[in-house]
Amino acid sequence: MTIAIGSDHGGFKLKEEIKKYLLKDNVEIKDFGTNSEESCDYADFAYPVALEVAKNNFDRGILVCGSGVGVTITANRVKGIRAVNAYNEDIAKQSREHGDCNVLCLGGRYLSFNQAKKIIDVWLNTPFSNDERHVRRIKKIDQ
Ligand code: RB5
Repeated sequence: MTIAIGSDHGGFKLKEEIKKYLLKDNVEIKDFGTNSEESCDYADFAYPVALEVAKNNFDRGILVCGSGVGVTITANRVKGIRAVNAYNEDIAKQSREHGDCNVLCLGGRYLSFNQAKKIIDVWLNTPFSNDERHVRRIKKIDQ
């Protein structure tokens, strides 16, 4: 699996921990920044990650900002992106089963690394249900 990852300063620390964690698995990661805790604007990192996923250059995207809100709003502006601000494992699971979400957004100031790891594991390993009603609903988003 290939993953594009990015954050602003509020998500930088968690992004770095996530990168190390995922490198243990059979996952190829490209980091789109930011590269420090210096203040920056989340859209500058969330938008490129979302574009890369929408173009199918990566299987999934993971974005982190302070709350998860800014990166979710930004990513969802890109056609073909279904981004979820997943704050627990149940939301992560449902976002895959029902929403076929392709970008996971996390709040670095609200989640511990331990919580984030569990959310990521569920999100990466849960397939889309392919149920007719969910396929229909997702099609309507693009229409
Ligand atoms: C930055 O202070 C903060 O606003 C940002 O990381 C994010 O939480 C926005 O939604």
